[in-house]
Amino acid sequence: MQNRGSSSSAMSMLSCVFLFALLNLLNIANSESFIGVNYGQVADNLPSPAATAKLLQSTSIEKVRLYGSDPAIIQALANTGIGIVIGAANGDIPAFASDPNFAKSWVNGNVVPFYPASNIIVIMVGNEVLMSGDNNLITQLLPAMKNIQSALDSVSLGDKIKVSTVHSMTLLRQSEPPSSARFHPNLINVLKGLLGFNNATGSPFAINPYPYFAYRGDNRAETLAFCLFQPNSGRYDPNTKINYMNMFDAQVDAIHSALDSMGFKNVEIVVAETGWPYKGDSDEVGPSVDNAKAYNGGLIGHLRSKVGTPLMPGKSVDTYLFALYDEDLKPGPTSERSFGLFNLDLTMTYDIGLSKSAETTPVTPATPKTPVTPVIPATPNTSPKPNKSAWCVPKADVSEAQLQANLDYVCGHGFDCTPIQPGGACFEPNTLESHATYAMNLLYQTAGHNPWNCDFSQTATISSKNPSYNGCSYPGGDT
Ligand SMILES: *[C@@H]1O[C@H](CO)[C@@H](O)[C@H](O)[C@H]1NC(C)=O
Ligand SMILES: *[C@@H]1O[C@H](CO)[C@@H](O)[C@H](O)[C@H]1NC(C)=O
Repeated sequence: MQNRGSSSSAMSMLSCVFLFALLNLLNIANSESFIGVNYGQVADNLPSPAATAKLLQSTSIEKVRLYGSDPAIIQALANTGIGIVIGAANGDIPAFASDPNFAKSWVNGNVVPFYPASNIIVIMVGNEVLMSGDNNLITQLLPAMKNIQSALDSVSLGDKIKVSTVHSMTLLRQSEPPSSARFHPNLINVLKGLLGFNNATGSPFAINPYPYFAYRGDNRAETLAFCLFQPNSGRYDPNTKINYMNMFDAQVDAIHSALDSMGFKNVEIVVAETGWPYKGDSDEVGPSVDNAKAYNGGLIGHLRSKVGTPLMPGKSVDTYLFALYDEDLKPGPTSERSFGLFNLDLTMTYDIGLSKSAETTPVTPATPKTPVTPVIPATPNTSPKPNKSAWCVPKADVSEAQLQANLDYVCGHGFDCTPIQPGGACFEPNTLESHATYAMNLLYQTAGHNPWNCDFSQTATISSKNPSYNGCSYPGGDT
């Protein structure tokens, strides 16, 4: 930038421009476009679309998935920038497949009038069709998707809106250890066609992993901790020598391995649904506010850390939480109607740090076993007497699980972890210990230098040795 102004007002204007550009950059860096939510409507008591659009804008949720294409909701989301996934019903698949004009009129009725004011990003054709047992539907799924793609192409939206479908995790014949995961042999042929389409059009492979269901089938305390992002001894994959620290990563990497085995490891994976009920019947195992908060809060922290999964490091998988509201008309046990993150009066069911205003206000840790530090809001340098020669580091022999929990906790609570993300000055060495050390010290330096800000369930200690190296400068000290 050429500095031609000599008056101080021109100078300050220039620095304003520079500051503005910098803030924009930071915004991009802090964008959390990987956090989405499912907006199911099997209910007769939901808040209005307008109130819902306003609610979403007050959160860091940047994408919404609808199961259908309710025009009132699509319209309410206009000019919010929120990405919208719309759905086409299983029942319409035969008509889409056999009649290109039906696909065209669907696109003309459900997409064209709203785009681009309403930021429609994906059309999901059908839900869990491959496990429906309906062979007619299964064989017509790909032709239906192709006709919708052609319909989009014909109105020049083919490269702006992706076409895909949503799969159940039960597509996998086997999922443990993750590296050995493979799809059911009788689905391989149809999956080849679908994945070829995903690969050719750049659309994602969408799945519904629910650690909650895994826990229901194996309700040991150790499994619960593994599902809830809490300290646990992990599950070792002998083929890759990776010790998995949580079920979410294990399930997503299982899909990755299955895709890889078919030659499609570059097809992007999207988590179309995942969640945990906060309430259930007395005979249901798993639902509770504590568990739901631990799972969803732990997941948000994990996604915000951008560590990715062991097989897909450095990037967070786009994840749509299930769900925005309870759906009171769903059949089945109480848990089926108790996945909502927000109440009907738009208050939070439980706080997992999704509110924009709360992004810099750490909530208390989700798990009593990880009373990581009763944290103070992350307002910079609130400490009256910063100790310029003290840094917070992990104690020797801290488990990987605990390091990961500490890292997820800090990065999930509004502290700026960009230096340890790819491209950041402290990304290398790309090890859990190095990243966790940076994050733990960051919290300590930012939250107030109190002994409890460097506790992390007694896994941290104060050191007088500055851990900074090369271009990586740790907050604190005289830097
Ligand atoms: C995926 O798409 C790329 C780019 O179009 C192509 O080169 C590659 O062969 C495709 N992979 C498969 C397995 O079809
Ligand atoms: C600062 O921290 C160092 C390292 O723990 C300690 O030796 C020193 O006494 C502390 N200074 C103050 C003023 O608290």
